[in-house]
Order: sequence, then structure tokens, then C-alpha cells
Amino acid sequence: VSLRVVAGRAGRSLAAAVARCLDVAPAPSSVEQFPDGELRPRVGSLRGDDVYVVQPTGPPVSDNLVELLLLLDACRRSGAGRITAVVPYFGYARQDRRARAGGAVGARAVADVLAAAGAGRAVLVDPHTTALESMFAIPVEVLTAVPVLIAALAPSRDTVVVAPDLGAVKLAEQVAGQLDATVAVVRKTRTSGVAVRATHLVGEVADRPVLLVDDMISTGATMEAAARVALAHGARPGMTAAATHALLVSEGIARLEALPLDRAVVTDTVPVRADRPWLEVRSVAPLLADALDRLHHDRSLDDLLPPDPSATG
Ligand code: R5P
Repeated sequence: VSLRVVAGRAGRSLAAAVARCLDVAPAPSSVEQFPDGELRPRVGSLRGDDVYVVQPTGPPVSDNLVELLLLLDACRRSGAGRITAVVPYFGYARQDRRARAGGAVGARAVADVLAAAGAGRAVLVDPHTTALESMFAIPVEVLTAVPVLIAALAPSRDTVVVAPDLGAVKLAEQVAGQLDATVAVVRKTRTSGVAVRATHLVGEVADRPVLLVDDMISTGATMEAAARVALAHGARPGMTAAATHALLVSEGIARLEALPLDRAVVTDTVPVRADRPWLEVRSVAPLLADALDRLHHDRSLDDLLPPDPSATG
């Protein structure tokens, strides 16, 4: 049984890098787009193969999701023996519960359609919520890019890791644990899709270098608000931001650029379109290649998974 890497258009360069790490050629695939927007994917023969479809569902989220679904279906119909959806960034993960009456649980709906389209297993990287795994009926491997980010950071002894909202605390603690740093937390309220309000900061940041850590930077509103609260509490300018997923939509780049940030370290779970001297992109390709190789050979992924928070109390 051969390991085959099939790329969606949003995952082309990452899939090519993963395939290079695995020393295999990407499996031929193409996606044709009709004038009305409909997609028609095509894959080569995959009969009996162990197939990994790489497609992050970043912006445009719904288009990339539909492309992933159609590719999964094409792989199934081409006789693939086993199909794994490799979704380095999982869109809709923020809709993990009904925020208000009449809402949808988007994450659950997406988990269902991935399985229905043919995925027998999924591989995700730092999804927005750890609860995501329980929304899937199929097995899910949740990887973390924290070691990839850490390798790019050069914190000084008194660095404070700042979680820009409550949801980022676990990730910030994971990073702080590895850097032997302390954590501060910002209280954030989202006022709209592109605006947030950050009011309080719990922790000690005065005259200390700050490392802001979040799972994703979308419009940059969260990072901007957290950085400004930290500055108001006396943090040193020349901060660093680190996030796994760099969606950088809307005013994202401009917002980060306006901050006293020395660096923003992100990964290539989604294609990073901006090129700035302060924006450093680290690749998750070796991490994914390692995971795919282990899955292909039915070996354990335990040491690639995020630490179990319940183990630390
Ligand atoms: C939300 O809780 C996430 O962890 C991020 O903080 C948020 O999605 C970032 O979005 P934005 O950059 O638009 O504030």
C-alpha cells in the first residue's frame, strides 16, 4: 500500500513540502472552476492507496471546504484504500457551540460532512478548541505547532507570555511551560467580526518583554487590543507575537504593523500571502510529514500531540 499525498489548491505548497520530506511525489490532482464558481476536481488512480488529502480551510473558508469535500469524494471514487483529511487549519472551529439561540454548531456540521465525503480519519493542527475532536465520529489526530513556534523564539529570562483572551490560556501555558516563563491573561470581549475590546490584564507585565500567543491571527483585532492593554500596564515595546494560523484578513497586516512589535512568528498552516521583514513564517511540513509517516506505518503519534492538560492539574 503506497502513501499518496493529494493537494487541494489551498494546500499546494504545504503538500509539496510534506511530500518532499517524505521523499514521495505529490499525487496528480487538479481542480477546474466553472464560471459560476462550481468546482470540478480530478485525481489520478489511487486504487488501494493510503491517501492524505492536504487542504487547510482558511479564507475563503467555505470555498476551500467544498474543494476539500469534493477531493475526498474523488479519492473515494478512485478506489483509495484509506483516506485521511489533513486540515492544518480547520475553519468553523470557532463555532463550537451555539453562541445564541437560533445559531448553528458549525464545527460539528463540518466534522459530519468531512466524514460523509469519505474521510476515514482527520489530522488537525492547533484547532481553535480541543473539544473539536469529540465532534467527529471518525478518529482525529490533533497535532500542535508549539514546538515549531518555540524553535523560532528567543525569549529573554523575564519574558511574560500573554494570552490575549481566555480561550488562549491553555496554549499560552503550553508555550510558557516550555520557555519557563510566566503567563498574563487579557480579558477580551468581541464587539463585532472585526473589533474587540480588551479591558483588563491579570498578571505582571510592567517593564518586561511580552510574547503574545494565540492560536490564530485573523483581523489582528485581538492581538492589537491585547498589545495595547499590555503597553498600558507598562510592558516593554518591542513585543513578539506568535500564532499557529496566520489568516491575516481585512486589516490584519496593517494592525500588526501599527504596533510596537519586533516580530510576529507564524506557521504555514494556511498560505501566508504577506511578505514583511517582521513576519516570520515557520513550516509545519516536517511535523505533518512525521505524522503522516507514522500513520502510514501504524506507529504511535503520542509524542507529537499537545500535552494533556489534565496531567498537569
Ligand atoms: C478567538 O478566540 C481566537 O482564538 C482568536 O483570538 C481570534 O479568532 C483572532 O481573531 P482576530 O485576529 O480577528 O481578532
